[in-house]
Amino acid sequence: MDLSKLYRTLGMDEFLVLKAMASLISKYEYVPLEILEKKVKVPPKKLGRSILRLGKINALIKGRGSSYKITFLGLDLLAIHSMMLKGIISAIGTQIGTGKESDIYNAVTLEGNSVAIKFYRIGRTSFQKVLRRRSYLVDKMNWMVRSITAAEREFNALRILSEYTDYVPKVFGRSHHAVVMEYIVGIELQKYFSPSDPLGILRKILNVLRVAYIKVKVVHGDLSEYNIIVSKQGNEEKPYIIDWPQYLYVDDPCHASLLERDIKYLINFFKRRYGVVIDFRDALRFVKGEIDEV
Ligand SMILES: Nc1ncnc2c1ncn2[C@@H]1O[C@H](COP(=O)(O)OP(=O)(O)OP(=O)(O)O)[C@@H](O)[C@H]1O
Ligand SMILES: [Mg+2]
Repeated sequence: MDLSKLYRTLGMDEFLVLKAMASLISKYEYVPLEILEKKVKVPPKKLGRSILRLGKINALIKGRGSSYKITFLGLDLLAIHSMMLKGIISAIGTQIGTGKESDIYNAVTLEGNSVAIKFYRIGRTSFQKVLRRRSYLVDKMNWMVRSITAAEREFNALRILSEYTDYVPKVFGRSHHAVVMEYIVGIELQKYFSPSDPLGILRKILNVLRVAYIKVKVVHGDLSEYNIIVSKQGNEEKPYIIDWPQYLYVDDPCHASLLERDIKYLINFFKRRYGVVIDFRDALRFVKGEIDEV
């Protein structure tokens, strides 16, 4: 069953249970029933019924004795509920994308804007890979707490970046591990084979990196053809840079090597795919603001 259908099967008591479970995820992997009873102020019989209902749809998993663990599905349903209550979205649609560490759904805001919701799923890829790519997540937090942290980071990065550039999705809100952002109608650069102005696209991307570096003082850190969506608006090709949770501030000692990696990768991709050549050193100096044209 899809998320929107499952969402409609739940009532107020189930959301109270999910909310209590979510508030305890950094303390317990499995929450003992007596703790849950204290936290959720509904009569034990009603609580039991809600737990049963949530278990049936796999929003909760039963552990040893009487203890329960919230699942990513449970957290998704809670995030949807809270975004509905806050008026960030009015309806949730279907899944439109899958990343290594996220599922993307479409949704609609109260004003009727089409938005994308990114539900983080840190831990879906292998443990080692995640640690390598998401180096900011190094302590012993569990995957759900990490997913919430990633959503907070991406929300904050996009919020500040979009004050300075149009070429990142605007954000509408966040709840738990979910970020609501502008839905970019376009094609991933990875699937974009015949651009009309590849050099123009490359320059626009470098300009976003420059604004990020100079104005926001961050580097993306995971730039690739998979994290760029080209949106055609009239004759214009607009490259949107997505997927920012691993960004680093420029005062982080690792930022320089990541910035160089991002730019080198980008330059090589454009050379290989489109035969467009920009010198790496010049691109780096442009992004850092040492020269004004590239
Ligand atoms: N705002 C958006 N508008 C339209 N499509 C989007 C948006 N955000 C993400 N997508 C789609 O979903 C895919 C996954 O998104 P994203 O790269 O942010 O997730 P991820 O799990 O971090 O990815 P990765 O596989 O790189 O780890 C994207 O490649 C893109 O196709
Ligand atoms: Mg990605």
